[in-house]
Amino acid sequence: MKKILITGGAGFIGSCFVRQTLQKHPDYQVINLDALTYAGNLETLADIEKNPNYRFVKGDIGDKNLVDKLFAAGLDYVVNFAAESHVDRSISGPEIFVQTNILGTQNLLEAARKYWLPLLNVAETTVPRYLQVSTDEVYGSLGLAGYFTEETPLQPNSPYSASKAGADLLTRAYFHTFGLPLLTTRCSNNYGPYQFPEKLIPLMINNALTDQPLPVYGDGRNVRDWLHVSDHCEALDIVLHQGVPGEVYNIGGHNEKENIYLVKLILRELKKPETLIKYVQDRPGHDRRYAIDAGKMAKCFGWQPRRVFEQGIKETIQWYLENQKWVASVKSGDYQKYYERQYGK
Ligand SMILES: NC(=O)c1ccc[n+]([C@@H]2O[C@H](COP(=O)([O-])OP(=O)(O)OC[C@H]3O[C@@H](n4cnc5c(N)ncnc54)[C@H](O)[C@@H]3O)[C@@H](O)[C@H]2O)c1
Repeated sequence: MKKILITGGAGFIGSCFVRQTLQKHPDYQVINLDALTYAGNLETLADIEKNPNYRFVKGDIGDKNLVDKLFAAGLDYVVNFAAESHVDRSISGPEIFVQTNILGTQNLLEAARKYWLPLLNVAETTVPRYLQVSTDEVYGSLGLAGYFTEETPLQPNSPYSASKAGADLLTRAYFHTFGLPLLTTRCSNNYGPYQFPEKLIPLMINNALTDQPLPVYGDGRNVRDWLHVSDHCEALDIVLHQGVPGEVYNIGGHNEKENIYLVKLILRELKKPETLIKYVQDRPGHDRRYAIDAGKMAKCFGWQPRRVFEQGIKETIQWYLENQKWVASVKSGDYQKYYERQYGK
């Protein structure tokens, strides 16, 4: 059996990738390494936790001994999702972003250097592969026109995107310096089920459902390019297996929407009045527009997003409506109790 280490697999995108990997590769053993920060939730994976090919390890990607042990036991693939991922939190407290996103990634890369470098020149050995999951936010902000390509210079504007860019550059350096089989993807904004309710779409849905004001930054005209989380995960699986080491691949949905458009759409779907919208002071350094040119993914692998945005967003709203118990439990911290019940202290 092939062994794949997925870090941050209890989060929004990582959990989707864990589920997809178990379905798509029944011959893989999946190890999910997650620190279970406020954003990680094992209830998200309750449906697969008894799968004999799945193992959960609670821990920090920055923990040298733990990561060393996991690599020492042999790994064929590593996909690094683990991160602090919320821009607003990076503005109020940047340090943990540097610790997890940069130093944590470096710890994984060091383990790859220690355990994989000796394998590189051995005949008849299958070389393992590492995928760094990054974001389009490392490119900074676009004006009204144009797209981010893989050649766009990195110009991160928030502590979050700066820490992700730092991790990308380390990944690049470990490829160039040591020749390790490392790949990087940069994706646009994801939407779909199981997203922590502090992020734009689930936050707006939940506030609308409870008739609370929907806070919209600035004039609400910031543009994001939305992609369904399952399309992102399918693209990641392709890059992990078929990508060329050292390369960067942009992943996006060609679904540019202004924030205010999304907020109004959610209100319409939930039959709530637009008077719930409350414009609030803009986020400091708020990037105006992100838009991805995913042409390389199409050209190299024929990849295209499968979900149509208008349908995907309706299904997503429906999912949050039907899963209010999950929302309440991740917000209340009940999932910590769930973890203790399931796995002991
Ligand atoms: N959400 C998006 O729209 C988006 C878009 C592009 C790229 N990304 C990237 O994808 C990855 C996953 O994003 P997400 O939205 O699922 O994030 P998330 O915040 O929902 O999940 C992050 C997960 O990482 C875990 N984690 C945090 N620190 C850890 C540590 N030190 N060690 C081990 N686990 C730790 C958390 O417990 C959580 O389960 C991130 O690297 C993010 O930068 C996200």
